[in-house]
Amino acid sequence: MTLLEVRNLEVTYPGGAAAVRGVDLSLEAGQKLGIAGESGCGKSTLALALLRLLPPGTRVGGEVLLDGEDVLAMRWGRVRAVRWAGASIVFQGAMHSLNAVHRVGDQIAEPILLHRRATPAAARRRTGELLEQVGLPAARASAYPHELSGGQRQRVMIAMALACDPRLVVADEPTTALDVMIQAQILRLIEGLVAEQELGLVAISHDLAVLAETCDRMAVMYAGRVVEEGPARTVYEDAGHPYARALSEAFPRIGDPASRFAPRGLPGDPPDPSDLPSGCAFHPRCPVALDSCTVDDPALRVSGTGRRAACVHVGAAQDARSGT
Ligand SMILES: Nc1ncnc2c1ncn2[C@@H]1O[C@H](COP(=O)(O)OP(=O)(O)O)[C@@H](O)[C@H]1O
Ligand code: SF4
Ligand SMILES: [Mg+2]
Repeated sequence: MTLLEVRNLEVTYPGGAAAVRGVDLSLEAGQKLGIAGESGCGKSTLALALLRLLPPGTRVGGEVLLDGEDVLAMRWGRVRAVRWAGASIVFQGAMHSLNAVHRVGDQIAEPILLHRRATPAAARRRTGELLEQVGLPAARASAYPHELSGGQRQRVMIAMALACDPRLVVADEPTTALDVMIQAQILRLIEGLVAEQELGLVAISHDLAVLAETCDRMAVMYAGRVVEEGPARTVYEDAGHPYARALSEAFPRIGDPASRFAPRGLPGDPPDPSDLPSGCAFHPRCPVALDSCTVDDPALRVSGTGRRAACVHVGAAQDARSGT
């Protein structure tokens, strides 16, 4: 069974910001799905919706099937159980959210005691194992957060996310605050854990290059929609949607020193989700927009093998070639 299946997910914040607009995604166990897009495109909102962590009053529609069970339709008791044992999340800037006055070992042990009903001795043992799994000595359990470096704190957060053996890990920009070397280490660590334990990983980043290195598949979001989705390397190297193309050009191509010095930026910003442009939401910034783009909003359609994109220039040409 598919580990995670998101169907027609819609999220509107109180006040009217349509932050996620009809997203479909799926992820198998042992697979890594990257979600890319500039700041404000709805990536974190999507992540929060997966675990029903959105603020009260937010309207959420669609389905989030975790092992076939709809998270959006669950009773709260079930949601709480799923948050630890089924799926867990490593947040953007989460390493600052460790409690400063408690030893990190006690913070890792807490969910194990609470949700696994483990004895204190068993929870301590498991905490030591988790620390070693994320590359820290078990003895660091007795450290306070301020005694650890940024990278070590992020490792502690990952240990916490893994504490109750989740099936799905959502990592929302877990490495942005870290330097490049540490980022690479943390991503390799997460990758290793996914492979070893047959987890599913949803990795969120604005950096396409990092996701192309780490993930199997990649979805690019713009204004609350997935505008392109496919094998991660192909989307990065040969994007079909003009936004995905601009975004991949904005990040240095690995192994191509020329592009490192000439990343072509994308002028402007993503739109305000409570005041979206008509037609294709990307049209005010799109270098290849047609007149019709101010009116028509193309749906995602097949753009190649295992690939989909939502642009008037994509798919239509293929349809014409294949005579459909
Ligand atoms: N609690 C909230 N209330 C209202 N609007 C919000 C809230 N959180 C985020 N938004 C808006 O939703 C849009 C998407 O935000 P977000 O999901 O954080 O994007 P990303 O993670 O891609 O940067 C943004 O325009 C943001 O301002
Ligand atoms: S549909 Fe039009 S505006 Fe939207 S990305 Fe394609 S060409 Fe650009
Ligand atoms: Mg975010």
